[in-house]
Amino acid sequence: MANIQKIKGFVDLFPEEAAKFSFLEAQARDIFTRYGFGELRTPILEKTELFQKSIGEDTDVVGKEMFTFPDRKGRSLTMRPEATAGVVRAFVESKTHQPGRISKFFSFGPMFRYERPQKGRQRQFHQLNAELFGAPEPQADAELILMLKSFLNSIGLEKLEIELNSLGCHDCRPAYKQALVDYYKSKDKENFCEDCQRRMETNPLRVLDCKVPTCKELVQDAPSITDHLCEECKAHFADVRAILDDAGAAYTLNPRLVRGLDYYVRTTFEVTSHDIGSQTAVAGGGRYDGLIKSLGGPDCAATGFACGMERLALLLEEKQLQQPDFYLAVVDNRAANDAMLFAQQLRDKGLRGEVSYAGGSMKSRMRAANKSGARTCLIIGGDEFDNKTVTVKDMAGEGGQETMTRDAYLNQF
Ligand code: HAM
Repeated sequence: MANIQKIKGFVDLFPEEAAKFSFLEAQARDIFTRYGFGELRTPILEKTELFQKSIGEDTDVVGKEMFTFPDRKGRSLTMRPEATAGVVRAFVESKTHQPGRISKFFSFGPMFRYERPQKGRQRQFHQLNAELFGAPEPQADAELILMLKSFLNSIGLEKLEIELNSLGCHDCRPAYKQALVDYYKSKDKENFCEDCQRRMETNPLRVLDCKVPTCKELVQDAPSITDHLCEECKAHFADVRAILDDAGAAYTLNPRLVRGLDYYVRTTFEVTSHDIGSQTAVAGGGRYDGLIKSLGGPDCAATGFACGMERLALLLEEKQLQQPDFYLAVVDNRAANDAMLFAQQLRDKGLRGEVSYAGGSMKSRMRAANKSGARTCLIIGGDEFDNKTVTVKDMAGEGGQETMTRDAYLNQF
């Protein structure tokens, strides 16, 4: 019988890769909590209608990419394709909101989208997600973008590009949509892909997001949302930009940034990188003031973002994130038990490292020490066994070494 293999687009994370994910989570936790965010863990499985109602029926995510199936009683369930809808559902269901109150949640975890797998794109992937409820002010948008930037800086990714746009509100967007429809008509409907011909009726903004080359070409001269913002949206967007400017946070304005989910209003943003292949979006987010109300909750403003952890992991340097402190090389078989116990004492002191279980040649032990990436190689051979000493070899730079009693070595820590 053939071996059972993992599902296409799903990935096992072995220690080296998993360490990157743990590092990302630890940094995000550290940074997000500085801004008053608390962790919220929501279920991976939700009722399908939650995503239909929030992300939008005519988005690729809902129309083509969800893992949806009936449960044993025939109710339609969906593996969450993103975190926002579930966080909003939990917030509404908890009934904790009071007027004027701000709530801030972050979440980590796996998301599921039935997309064609490629570098940086999987069917099970992971997001770091942050949502801020109760603040319609532009300061909240700016603070969130600055928090995202601080997080990216903290993991060594200072140079990523931030793209910024405002999608207007429910007051000014209808006129923009009409301007788009008029423009599409002037380009002959039949020239667009079939999906876009439908989108023109159902969701004209989505056409701007189409990946089909002919559609991309056709929308190049389409009207820009920036020219159609109402006075309030203009002022809101100007404030967001002014704060980012004053904070020295560089961004590029991209009036075509409509994002792939329907719930956004006003500020939207994406962080991109050209170093990870064709899937360039590392993070994305924006404001979605109407969503909480449309899911049965209070009239409460909302803004948030999510980072794709796989894409961040691709950008992290190859550096070892958890460099071992020592590799304990046993070169004389008689020392195997002593070495085990010595390694145990080192770990009790908080050091990280491995021990070779049996004696072997100095050459093979040094090879293993190198491979482990440890800062220091500790050697116990015949002499060291007889004298209860250890030879300490620095693995970096000049690689000097000295022999000392094991107690003296331990007492340094
Ligand atoms: P999104 O742009 O759909 O936004 O996804 C956010 C990030 O998740 C993307 O920028 C990308 O890095 C990553 N991502 C998406 N799909 C995949 C995939 N198939 N494989 C690997 N990575 C992927 C949202 O999900 C919104 N919920 C963000 C948000 C939160 N807006 C407001 N609050």
